Amino acid sequence: MDLLTQINTDKVPSHVAVIMDGNGRWAKQKGKPRVFGHKNGVKAVRQTIDAAGNAGIKALTLFAFSTENWNRPKAEVKTLMTLLLTSLKREANELDKNNIKLQVIGNLESIPSSVLKGLNKVIEQTKSNDALTLTIALSYGSREEIVNAVKNISKKIVNKELSIEEIDENILNNHLYTFTLPDVDLMIRTSGEKRISNFLLWQIAYAELHFTDVLWPDFSKDNFYNALLEYQNRERRYGKTSDQIEKNK
Ligand code: FPP
Repeated sequence: MDLLTQINTDKVPSHVAVIMDGNGRWAKQKGKPRVFGHKNGVKAVRQTIDAAGNAGIKALTLFAFSTENWNRPKAEVKTLMTLLLTSLKREANELDKNNIKLQVIGNLESIPSSVLKGLNKVIEQTKSNDALTLTIALSYGSREEIVNAVKNISKKIVNKELSIEEIDENILNNHLYTFTLPDVDLMIRTSGEKRISNFLLWQIAYAELHFTDVLWPDFSKDNFYNALLEYQNRERRYGKTSDQIEKNK
């Protein structure tokens, strides 16, 4: 049976975040260089975006490149940047046609300007779309994001635009790169690793976590739907008891 038909579209997570892991190991298993894994990872990205759209997800955030990934061999970094740019440029019209808005988060100052320029074109082309917001985390690190937020809040205090008493969770949230997005409801990580790796630490406070052994290039629409089905079968209590949750249904 088609897994998509089993999903309760009224109960899908508003925001799904994905740590796409295992490209290197996938390539190694096939006796190929790591970049072969990344190239094939792009297919899984397309499947995931498609599946998220089909399920009616409003926000999908993909971890494409971390601040730590700059330490990888130069040639791999270059391939990843090129791959990212060429795939997003190639898919720009398709994203637009499907009413998908692209945005990029992270420490963008460290991204080569040619890559940023190309991405900005796609961002501009898709900015009015509202079915799905596709956020690519690039040169992203959650702690760096929080430090950046604290700096910007501090500047406002120094400039007397804000008082210390006014600082609350909302204010901090509004200074994160993800300020336009809702909290993450579901985080998926592929390749069998059970770590968060400095991804959206603030935003996953109440998220359900889904770990799968599938290596990223093999991740399919059905794998995504399975994660959604598992999410729908879990009870999210936000610190309350099961009885309290039942009564409020
Ligand atoms: C993790 O596998 C994957 C990455 C660091 C890069 C993900 C990037 C893509 C799939 C390219 C295109 C992206 C978009 C959004 C078009 P790994 O190299 O850490 O694998 P390993 O843990 O097996 O070594």
